[in-house]
Amino acid sequence: MWDYSEKVMDHYRNPRNVGKIDDADAVGNAGSLSCGDQLKIYLKIKDNIVTDAKFQTFGCGSAVASSSILTEMIIGKSVDEVRKITNKDIADELGGLPPEKMHCSVMGYEALEDALKNWGDYQDLDDLREPEKAQKIVCTCFNVTENVIWDAIKQNGLKTVEEVTNYTKAGGACGKCKGLIQDIINTYYEKEKSEQKLSPTQRILKINNIIETQISPELQKDGGDINLVDIQDNKIYVKLHGKCSSCKNATLTIKRFVEQTLKTALDEDIEVIDV
Ligand code: FES
Repeated sequence: MWDYSEKVMDHYRNPRNVGKIDDADAVGNAGSLSCGDQLKIYLKIKDNIVTDAKFQTFGCGSAVASSSILTEMIIGKSVDEVRKITNKDIADELGGLPPEKMHCSVMGYEALEDALKNWGDYQDLDDLREPEKAQKIVCTCFNVTENVIWDAIKQNGLKTVEEVTNYTKAGGACGKCKGLIQDIINTYYEKEKSEQKLSPTQRILKINNIIETQISPELQKDGGDINLVDIQDNKIYVKLHGKCSSCKNATLTIKRFVEQTLKTALDEDIEVIDV
């Protein structure tokens, strides 16, 4: 039995803004009946403000609650504000959803994104960057595109195939797409890592800062200290002072501590050399 928040139960029992807007300015769809749930969202937009929103859904209680709260979240907001809403915002607004039901919040996000795309000039930034992703179906059982999986990973920090299944349903039937999902997860985190890469100057400053603020104060507690001597690629040359340099075993332990601290903060390939 899932553990639902009071807000989920309230929106499930008394859903707001159910129905259709006949003269809607934008309509968005997500999911499909063959996949078990479907959401259609209707928007009225005037002067860039969402003045009304309604929804029709076939799905579980979480899908009803997610759609209902989403309409409340967007009415009265500008299109710019609305397009920043993620599935995580929807789930948070509901006071959380069980992990296995997070895909309902993703369905709300997808339908909203679809409506805004249909409305006019809005395009998802990821689509602009990698347009081939938008329509590429990864999971044929649930019709889930690469773009949806990518967004779910990005917005929710998903790290495993199981988590992606909870959030998007992809991988939850025959399982044939699980390898592809894992590839997308790997690609996402490799890309994130390369984007976070520091310039050589930033790297030197960061290493110096870690030594001065994290490592040196720890060594000083035992009467020792450390100086940065040189950096060559992943080799970091340091000089240990005082008690640290007097005993071979202590030096080894300290070297390991220094190395681990720098590895955790920078990367696993770092080697510390005491000179
Ligand atoms: S192709 Fe994804 S579960 Fe079957």
